[in-house]
Amino acid sequence: MLNKRIVLGVTGGIAAYKSAELTRLLVKAGARVQVAMTHSATQFVAPLTFQALSGQPVIIEDADPAKGHGMAHIHLGRDCDMLLIAPATANFIARLAHGLADDVLSAACLARDCPLWLAPAMNRQMWHHPATQRNVLQIQQDGAWVIEPDSGAQACGEEGAGRMREPEAIVDGLRDFFSPKRLSGKRVLITAGPTLEKLDPVRAITNLSSGKMGYAVAQAAREAGALVTLISGPVCVPSPPGIIPIQVESAHDMLNAVKAHVAHADIFISVAAVADYRPAQSQTHKLKKSTQALSIDLVPNPDILEWVATREKPPFCVGFAAETDRLIEHGEAKRQRKHLPLLAVNHAMSALGSDDNELILLDDEGVHPLPKADKLTLARQLVAHLANLFNSKNGG
Ligand code: C5P
Repeated sequence: MLNKRIVLGVTGGIAAYKSAELTRLLVKAGARVQVAMTHSATQFVAPLTFQALSGQPVIIEDADPAKGHGMAHIHLGRDCDMLLIAPATANFIARLAHGLADDVLSAACLARDCPLWLAPAMNRQMWHHPATQRNVLQIQQDGAWVIEPDSGAQACGEEGAGRMREPEAIVDGLRDFFSPKRLSGKRVLITAGPTLEKLDPVRAITNLSSGKMGYAVAQAAREAGALVTLISGPVCVPSPPGIIPIQVESAHDMLNAVKAHVAHADIFISVAAVADYRPAQSQTHKLKKSTQALSIDLVPNPDILEWVATREKPPFCVGFAAETDRLIEHGEAKRQRKHLPLLAVNHAMSALGSDDNELILLDDEGVHPLPKADKLTLARQLVAHLANLFNSKNGG
C-alpha cells in the first residue's frame, strides 16, 4: 500500500462515520488518500474530519478554487491508483449503473482510468431489492469491483445484509489487490459455453453446456491479474465482472474468433463444449415436416484446441474433458493426444448446467483431484494450479 494513491469517495449514508477510520487505516498503511464527498455525505461527517485524517483538503465541488480549475472530476480518477467509494449508497450505485454524472464523484467514476471499488452500505431491504441487485450486477459488468456487504445489526434497527464491511477488512482487500498477482499482465484467451450448429434458419444442434464453468474460469483468471479475452457460445449466464464476452454461435465462428486473438495469448483455456459435428448442409429454408424418417448427414467440426496446441509457438494450453466413465484414463489419453500440459476432467452428467462441479487435474506430474465445490471456487483452484505450472515453465 506504500505510496498508493487512493481517492476515497464518501457518499451519504450513516456508514460514512466508518470511512473516517478507513481513511486513518489507509494513511497508516502508507497510502496517499484524497477524500471526495457528495453533498449529502457532508451531513453525516464534517469534511474537516477527513481533511485532518488525510492531510488533504476534501473535494466536494468540481470547481476547485485551490487548484484554479473546474476539472476535479477528470483529475480525480486519473491521478490515482484506485477510486474507492465507501460507503456507496443504493442511490449512488443506481446513478453509476445508469452512467449519470451529476456530481463530482459520479463524474469521476465515468472519467476514470483506474480500478473502481465500491463498498455498499444500506438497509437490508434496499440491498435485496431487485433494482439494487440489478444495478450492482450492471456496475460489475461495467468493470467495478463490489465489496460484498456484511450481515448483522443495522443502524435503522433491522438485522440483515447491507452493512458496510469493516474498515480493516476493506484495507485487507486493497492490500491483496495491490500485491503482485500470479497472472499479472498475462493474456489469457478462454472459450466457454456450447456451440450451436444450424440445420435450417430455425433449428440447430447444440448441447447442454451452460457456460458457468467457462465464465467462472474467466472471472478467476481476471482476479489473478490476467487480461482476459472470453469467446462465448450462446449462454444465459451473466458476463463475468469487467469482461465483455465475444459472442459466437458455431464451432467455425469460435475457431475464427480464436484465430483472431490467439497470436497475443500467453495462455489458452478451452472450456467450451464445442460440437463435434455439424450438419453437412445448413438449409436456407425451413425443412418441411413429413411422416418419413429424416436422416441428417453430419460432418466433423475442426478441433479448436488441437489447432491451437499444434501451432508453431502455442500458448500454454489447458483443455477440459467431460467423460462418463474411466475419467482419468480417458482424460489422460485426451491430454496426450492434444499435446496439453494440463487438462481438467469432470463427470459429464454432474458438471453440465449445475452450479457445483468436481474436477481432476491431469498434468505431467500426475493426478490432482479438486473435491466438489461451487464452480468459482474450482475455477480459482484451477487458475492457481495452471499459474504455478505456467510460471515455473516460463521462469516467472
Ligand atoms: O475431444 P473432446 O471434445 O472431449 O475434447 C475436449 C476439449 O477439446 C475441450 O477443452 C474442448 O473445449 C476442446 N474442443 C475443441 N474443439 C472441438 C472439440 C473439443 O476445442 N471441436
